[in-house]
Amino acid sequence: MTDSLRSSAASIAPATGKLAIFTPGLGAVSTTFMAGVERVRRGLSVPIGSLSQMATIRLGKRTENRSPLIRDLVPLASLDDIVFGAWDPIPDDAFTAATKAGVLEKSDLEPVAEFLKSIKPMPAAFELRYVTRITGATNVKTGKNKRDLAEQIRADIRNFMKEHGAARAAMVWCGSTETYIKAGPQHQTIEAFEQAMEESDDAIAPSMLYAWAAIMEGVPYCNGAPNLSADFPALLGLAVKKGVPVSGKDFKTGQTWLKTVIAPGLKARMLGLEGWYSTNILGNRDGEVLDDPASFKTKEESKLSVLHTILQPELYPELYKDFSHVVRINYYPPRGDNKEGWDSIDIKGWLGYPMQIKVNFLCRDSILAAPIVLDLALFSDFAMRAGMKGIQEWLSFYYKSPQTAPGLQPEHDLFIQQTKLKNTLRHLMGEEQITHLGLEYYQ
Ligand SMILES: NC(=O)c1ccc[n+]([C@@H]2O[C@H](COP(=O)([O-])OP(=O)(O)OC[C@H]3O[C@@H](n4cnc5c(N)ncnc54)[C@H](O)[C@@H]3O)[C@@H](O)[C@H]2O)c1
Repeated sequence: MTDSLRSSAASIAPATGKLAIFTPGLGAVSTTFMAGVERVRRGLSVPIGSLSQMATIRLGKRTENRSPLIRDLVPLASLDDIVFGAWDPIPDDAFTAATKAGVLEKSDLEPVAEFLKSIKPMPAAFELRYVTRITGATNVKTGKNKRDLAEQIRADIRNFMKEHGAARAAMVWCGSTETYIKAGPQHQTIEAFEQAMEESDDAIAPSMLYAWAAIMEGVPYCNGAPNLSADFPALLGLAVKKGVPVSGKDFKTGQTWLKTVIAPGLKARMLGLEGWYSTNILGNRDGEVLDDPASFKTKEESKLSVLHTILQPELYPELYKDFSHVVRINYYPPRGDNKEGWDSIDIKGWLGYPMQIKVNFLCRDSILAAPIVLDLALFSDFAMRAGMKGIQEWLSFYYKSPQTAPGLQPEHDLFIQQTKLKNTLRHLMGEEQITHLGLEYYQ
């Protein structure tokens, strides 16, 4: 069920026609993403933070001096060909939602205001029991059961694509974090899953309906939140059967991104870890949703697993056995989307001598997440055209809890993830993978 790789660039379908990017959720992240793409298209901004737009990729031997932009090597959809579709239980258009989210300055939104006003959310498949802290949810689908709602999402996808003349689509979940659900018998086979949708079983959360609808329509699905969504055998099996790429979970943005930068550095130097305490204050709607213990549990699981898999205490017990790891998120309205995070890291060096690292990161969550949405949509669309299906582990770079084939440990180290991403692109484009062996000097 993992990525099936092909090495023939010639067989990859070109990116002709429009690409619809669907986001369930029209909140801080998705509106920052949409406004940003439109500003870049108009030459008003630079797409900072996006690998698909700004990163280069070295090809061949170092002596060849070949380092094109990724987008010049890989046939990605052009920003000019993107059209945006969204669902949200709150009826605000993208301009109103962006203004309320307060991420981008008025002066940055004004030039693209008319464009954003034209993006109106389709009625959402939504239930308050899965995201308790949302108010004003009036733009909601009704139907005889959850399957009916999911069929309505499929119809939305088809209608939107027809109306906008889109040839292809990708979906990125930018909706709120849902309450914690563990995969049960309803999630094991597609028959059980569809039956559970018919019966409106509680174990079927709204994000699963979007994921099912996307996969059924041949639309790659990416999950930016930590909720289960498409991370269980029934939907993964369906994705393989339908030839659709999926990836998740939970955009890797602020503190966790830094963790996956610092922890590999400690391990590379064989420095030990006694404890890592992370806390932050956040005042946006996401912070409010995460103030609910049930939604926070989903997030906490996602954030906690990172250090263990990078540091491998089972291989290095003297360095990493039983380190303490605490993660706190505190809802604090005055800060809005501008999160402030503090990490206090207790490490040990030669002869066990203790040292401390303090990180005070004043980050902007949605500013970090928006380019991730863009890259995931473009790379997933590319993967689909390249014949890849099921879990796309090479997109782990973008996620806090990367989905993997059953039984495999996810890779959390940002630099290994980056190597895997670039090597996958090289491989798909018929270029040699780069191992950094440097043997060319001796040949
Ligand atoms: N910003 C980051 O750095 C970051 C990092 C990792 C993950 N995430 C996740 O991304 C998601 C979006 O974050 P945000 O800051 O934009 O949140 P937000 O609260 O601003 O927006 C989420 C939107 O989703 C809508 N929504 C809820 N349930 C829905 C449903 N069933 N269908 C359609 N829409 C639904 C809400 O009404 C809201 O407008 C959250 O789950 C968050 O945890 C964000």
